[in-house]
Amino acid sequence: MAKILILGAKGNLGQQLVKVFSPGNEVIAWDRGEIDITDRELILKKMADLRPELVINAAAYNAVDKCEADDGEYELAKKINIDGPKFLAEACRLGGATLIHYSTNYVFDGEKKGGYQETDQPKPANRYGKSKHHGEKRILELSGSGLKWYLIRTSKLFGPRAESEMAKQSFFDLMLELSRKQDRLEAVDEELSCFAYTPDLARATKELVDKNSGYGIYHITNSGACTWYEAALELFKLAGLNIKVLPIAGDRLIRPAKRPKYAVLLNTKRPPIRDYREALKEYLKKM
Ligand SMILES: NC(=O)c1ccc[n+]([C@@H]2O[C@H](COP(=O)([O-])OP(=O)(O)OC[C@H]3O[C@@H](n4cnc5c(N)ncnc54)[C@H](OP(=O)(O)O)[C@@H]3O)[C@@H](O)[C@H]2O)c1
Repeated sequence: MAKILILGAKGNLGQQLVKVFSPGNEVIAWDRGEIDITDRELILKKMADLRPELVINAAAYNAVDKCEADDGEYELAKKINIDGPKFLAEACRLGGATLIHYSTNYVFDGEKKGGYQETDQPKPANRYGKSKHHGEKRILELSGSGLKWYLIRTSKLFGPRAESEMAKQSFFDLMLELSRKQDRLEAVDEELSCFAYTPDLARATKELVDKNSGYGIYHITNSGACTWYEAALELFKLAGLNIKVLPIAGDRLIRPAKRPKYAVLLNTKRPPIRDYREALKEYLKKM
């Protein structure tokens, strides 16, 4: 039985991590109410008191477009996505705990058509990607001085709705919500990347730990790269809904943040995870 601290525990991924890691372990599930990950002193103190063996950080600032405005949002994103992992990494190194942190395919600019391997050099195309990339760097910097760490890059999460009301809404939930009001929808037929079903991602995270996989960077998503348009067609087909979906170009939507065109994360280190369509079928059945 291990003592495991999960941060961002009320978020989309966090709540699935709590479910998957709880059997057989002592799981401490904290969200914003219990700790602010941008408060260094608080983190150092609370972690020293708790002494977890494993810390899983699913807390993040995820509002990709809001980061582009100069109204203080980007400053907040930097605090949560850069300072947060930095302070957690410091505390883990001091206490000897292993740290698992999540990052995104948006650390890449999407100009490489064949997809990105774990070893590819990040080059973010927007501010959100930049903040997550700097968060990655804060962890890597402590790698040589005793920090035990896993960095998992993922993309396009979907799954059971998060407990936290502020948590990011998934593309599929948004499409289903819109389809209740309209029978014709538009979806971007660009920005090729992979979905990640949060229960699958949580299980894959646990497998990394259980199998004592080497510390380092991992790319974990479901299989089956697709555009938003292709995913919307699959969704309505699987849900048995007669909704007309029209393909549009990315620049037809007003979105302040630039999106990578080809941001497929290639997983070269772990067994592949099932196709997102299978996971989506399961999600729709459970809804
Ligand atoms: N969602 C995606 O499509 C996606 C894609 C690629 C990568 N990722 C990465 O995957 C990870 C999980 O994302 P997610 O979608 O599950 O996130 P999420 O649903 O937005 O949940 C994040 C959680 O972190 C909490 N949080 C925010 N700021 C905090 C702070 N300062 N201190 C403590 N807790 C704080 C949030 O609380 P509040 O709700 O109260 O703010 C929320 O419960 C993140 O690292 C994210 O960058 C996500």
